[in-house]
Amino acid sequence: MKIVLAYSGGLDTSVALKWLQDKYKAKVITYTANIGKGIDSAGLEEKAKKTGALKVYVEDLRKVFAKEFILPALKAGALYEGKYPLATALSRPLIAKRLVEIAKKEGADSVAHGCSGKGNDQVRFELTIFSLAPHLKIIAPLREWKMKSRAEEIEYAKKHNISVSVTKKSPYSIDENIWGTSIECGILEDPNVEPPEDAWTITNSIHKSLSQPQYIKIYFERGMPKKLNGKKYDFVSLIEKLKNIGAKHGIGRIDMVENRLIGIKSRELYEAPAAVILNKALEEIESLVLDRETLHFKEMISNKYAELVYYGLWYSPLKGALDAFLNSIHKKTTGEVTLKLHKGNCIVAGRKSLNSLYNEKMATYSPQDIFSHQSAKGFIELFGLPLKIQALKKTGAKRKKK
Ligand code: ARG
Repeated sequence: MKIVLAYSGGLDTSVALKWLQDKYKAKVITYTANIGKGIDSAGLEEKAKKTGALKVYVEDLRKVFAKEFILPALKAGALYEGKYPLATALSRPLIAKRLVEIAKKEGADSVAHGCSGKGNDQVRFELTIFSLAPHLKIIAPLREWKMKSRAEEIEYAKKHNISVSVTKKSPYSIDENIWGTSIECGILEDPNVEPPEDAWTITNSIHKSLSQPQYIKIYFERGMPKKLNGKKYDFVSLIEKLKNIGAKHGIGRIDMVENRLIGIKSRELYEAPAAVILNKALEEIESLVLDRETLHFKEMISNKYAELVYYGLWYSPLKGALDAFLNSIHKKTTGEVTLKLHKGNCIVAGRKSLNSLYNEKMATYSPQDIFSHQSAKGFIELFGLPLKIQALKKTGAKRKKK
């Protein structure tokens, strides 16, 4: 048996690496993706090899993650339950896809992940694997083994000589990538408790954020952010740049109670300055260039798209069809937005586009006005006709009764 394990090098997956070899008499290949801050790949390789890994993969997936996962979600304006920009959720189908590809390349018959039985991520990993390689066996050690606590895992690690860095563990569970950070557990499990300041990892509090407002300009080309303040950036660098600027101004803190897929509610914090800024900016271009019906239809899609991502249905037919719609409407979203960042606020200060449908002569209340005021009378007459007919019927019925 040969297994490809999604491996972070943390306690759970380090223990899983050994446990899989013992329990399944398997050869285990580890796979680690860098989609955030970076990884000490030499250290990770040494650690995995010491714990018996047959082969170690470490890859920088930031570019692919940005282009193929973040960008579609941005074009969709996808926010789960209106708030969560889906950073963690978006990363899972990518990692699972690479697990599948490596399993094929290495002739492995199984893949394994370190998700618990209570979260959304197990669903996202496994649905992706179902979609791409339905015959692969999936193993989730944390759902199988008897160990119930961190202490038991540490004991297992000691017993088997597994090197785990025994740093003082943060009371929170944190998942981080370039699009955002997810924070849960500890005191946060009480939804009525304000998050302690130490729960936030990158953003300034309102109190500590810069006292002066900062203006920024973001230029989009067909829905893709290309320039910041007139300077060209690749997508990953632009996201990182906005993350740092937004964090200084205390932008992108989200505190929510969300509905998990597996039926429970959970309280989660998110920090996603770049996601908040870019979603806001792109929306402003959309407001200029999309006609009313298309814009309203897109608003309906945003919600559905966010659900699909959250539910792990990235490789579903509906998601693909929605992408086609979104790519079509974003042929028009080229233009620039000016934003004012200040004390946790991201305020639009201006927007322009060559594709703008805004017609000043039509909109103005000045003498330059070319709008046909007389036509409005007929429009209202016919638009309101059904209401009139209904009201006439009611009053007619009353008269008859009398
Ligand atoms: N609730 C978020 C989601 O389902 C984040 C999950 C991971 N969070 C964490 N703190 N480890 O996508």
